[in-house]
Amino acid sequence: MARLHNKVALITGIGGGMGREAARRFAAEGAKVVGCDINAQGLDETVRIVREEGGEITGIGGVDLSDAATSARWIDDAAAVYGGIDILYNNASIQRFGPIDELAVGDWELTIRGELSIVFYAVRAAWKHLKARGGVIVNIGSVAGTRGVEFMPQNVHGAAKAGVINLTQQLAVEGGPHGIRAICISPGFIETPATRFLVEDPPPAIKATWDRIPLRRVGQPDDIVNAAVFLASDEATWITGVNLVIDGGSSVLG
Ligand SMILES: NC(=O)c1ccc[n+]([C@@H]2O[C@H](COP(=O)([O-])OP(=O)(O)OC[C@H]3O[C@@H](n4cnc5c(N)ncnc54)[C@H](O)[C@@H]3O)[C@@H](O)[C@H]2O)c1
Repeated sequence: MARLHNKVALITGIGGGMGREAARRFAAEGAKVVGCDINAQGLDETVRIVREEGGEITGIGGVDLSDAATSARWIDDAAAVYGGIDILYNNASIQRFGPIDELAVGDWELTIRGELSIVFYAVRAAWKHLKARGGVIVNIGSVAGTRGVEFMPQNVHGAAKAGVINLTQQLAVEGGPHGIRAICISPGFIETPATRFLVEDPPPAIKATWDRIPLRRVGQPDDIVNAAVFLASDEATWITGVNLVIDGGSSVLG
């Protein structure tokens, strides 16, 4: 039996990177996937790939999830496609980087909205659907949410992802009595279209951190999605509130 057989999974940001991989794997595990992206072209490509692979998927394009009303509309439309929600997988995010004294206030606000509020908006709208079935929320945090680094001015990105990690803990507490589980997965560096330029030509300071990864390689999208399949499945019905760090061991280095 497929591990997500007949589960309705809403996945955000399936237009590329880890979101595309999540749509493919969740569909391959028997889920009925409803995905969205602000990038309609990338979304269409993912829908085409999943269907070619024999998966069940509906794509809703041109959705800007950083707008609360748009997000709520998307959630209700998506829930209507297969008659409910079992899994809400908050993958989409957008962020800006800059030294703390140079980062524009607008870039701070864009990042908080594009990485933290974006999760709140979707969860808030999905809550009634998740309560109806005892669903699962999978949030994508980051190792940036629990530490600082010297090689990148990730101040607002780290603050927003720390918010996602803590929000997940509170969602587990508020959701538990309704049978709702909430999980956070915090990736280390993962090679995706958004980060490939760094893999192809890494600045020395970044390369030096990768050379120290205990498992001696950067991550790939399926390193994250494999864990998400397990955590979203009925194999994990007593797991909630966790923040699973997946980073090849980097964060345990001294
Ligand atoms: N790549 C990494 O190294 C890494 C590390 C830690 C955490 N993460 C997190 O993992 C997740 C996926 O990362 P990725 O590297 O695959 O990113 P990506 O940029 O390749 O993909 C993100 C997708 O979300 C979509 N999106 C962005 N803002 C949106 C919005 N407002 N409304 C709708 N869609 C929107 C984009 O169009 C894109 O298709 C993100 O939450 C990211 O912060 C990534």
